[in-house]
Amino acid sequence: MRGDSMDKIRLAIVGCGGMGHRHMYGLAELHRVGWTRFDLVGACDPVLANAESLAAQAEERFGQKPAVVGSLEELAEVGVDAVDVTTTPPYHHTVAVETLERGWHTMVEKPMGLTVRACNLIRRAADASDAILSVAENYRRDPMNRLAKALLNAEVIGTPRFLIHHAIGGTNRMTISVWRHQKDQSGVLLDVGVHFADMMEYLLGEIDTVYAQTRLHEPIRHNPAAVTGESSSNPAGVYTKWQRKMPAEFEATAEDAAYATLTFKNGVVGQYIEEHAAWGQGSWLRQIHGSQGSMTLPGDRSGGIITLNINGQETINDERLLDLVPDFRLDAVTADLFGGDRLWNYTFTQGDAKNIAIEYGEFAEAIAGNRTVEVDAYQGTRSVAVSYAILESGATGQIVQMDQMLDESINTYQREIDEGLGI
Ligand SMILES: NC(=O)c1ccc[n+]([C@@H]2O[C@H](COP(=O)([O-])OP(=O)(O)OC[C@H]3O[C@@H](n4cnc5c(N)ncnc54)[C@H](O)[C@@H]3O)[C@@H](O)[C@H]2O)c1
Repeated sequence: MRGDSMDKIRLAIVGCGGMGHRHMYGLAELHRVGWTRFDLVGACDPVLANAESLAAQAEERFGQKPAVVGSLEELAEVGVDAVDVTTTPPYHHTVAVETLERGWHTMVEKPMGLTVRACNLIRRAADASDAILSVAENYRRDPMNRLAKALLNAEVIGTPRFLIHHAIGGTNRMTISVWRHQKDQSGVLLDVGVHFADMMEYLLGEIDTVYAQTRLHEPIRHNPAAVTGESSSNPAGVYTKWQRKMPAEFEATAEDAAYATLTFKNGVVGQYIEEHAAWGQGSWLRQIHGSQGSMTLPGDRSGGIITLNINGQETINDERLLDLVPDFRLDAVTADLFGGDRLWNYTFTQGDAKNIAIEYGEFAEAIAGNRTVEVDAYQGTRSVAVSYAILESGATGQIVQMDQMLDESINTYQREIDEGLGI
């Protein structure tokens, strides 16, 4: 049901920086294709200029301006049923625990919390609340990743044996913002790595152990937008105005490279490189080898095409992919957004907004009682724990068991961050 004949869900966006704006564009995209359960009534940010910017742009898209507020108390006066938490990561747990205690349905951006302990605080608050907690993890929702998962489930490459996951680039440029290079605010191995952690577990099931080497290769990062006005790292083109005010160069405290071996509970072994400080040739590879063939996945949100190499057959990287999964169907919201329920590629420039719109669509349907959320507190915590397992292993030289990450018995690397948070 698309929402016209039901009470609207009064929604506020909490955290009105780059992703807050992108979420609002995603909500507008969802409304554009007819899914209109949400009513955006609040824009909340202690930096009121950011909340005002979001509210003004929302008015252009929805014809009504959400209230501009600086705190959750003021939001309570506005009256909300649900919030979308897009603050910087150190505030995810403070905001989400309070909103869940207030009984507000809560969608929280990745990383679910700044540390595993912060995630566990949110998990406990979610368990104690009647409100829904959803983690806004967008990469798995990309229709190409849905197709990859269906092909794996159909065992077109046989039984998965190993994964190569390489994301290599970065130089000494700032990745979007200063905070993404600070250990106490979510370094880049968490900021980006948590997406990859979710994707790996989505495709191949739970990770069991992690061994990693980590490095901080580029302790001084450079922000070209402060010098030339032109940004070099600017998803959806929304960050320029903030980047121009950030320092031209600054010290990085968070590791920027990880080289890891992962084992999965089903016996799959993963070789993982996440490099944000590489010079020269950059590269991207997400490739799964199984007992009968291999699957090479395109970059997330690119609309690129999956390539299958199955023993004894020619390469498949076109619409014949769909022949292998006759029952594959995208969910109704995704199908409306992307214009079909069986896609093998797409060329939209609006991919970012559409992927965020899927998250909102699911959140609304879950609030309406029509489904459960896909990325819940457990999976959100696991993904953060995988990213920190890499950092914990890098700090100690030990093989790290995921169980010990989740129960917080391993926290050599995270202790200082938790102390800074006061948790
Ligand atoms: N899924 C994705 O693809 C994706 C992409 C970018 C960012 N993100 C996530 O979105 C979140 C925000 O990232 P961003 O790039 O927008 O950062 P940002 O720095 O651009 O914006 C953060 C905003 O949060 C506000 N804020 C801080 N504390 C707050 C509080 N207690 N209450 C309300 N607002 C508060 C800040 O004033 C700022 O306006 C992060 O968790 C980040 O990891 C996800």
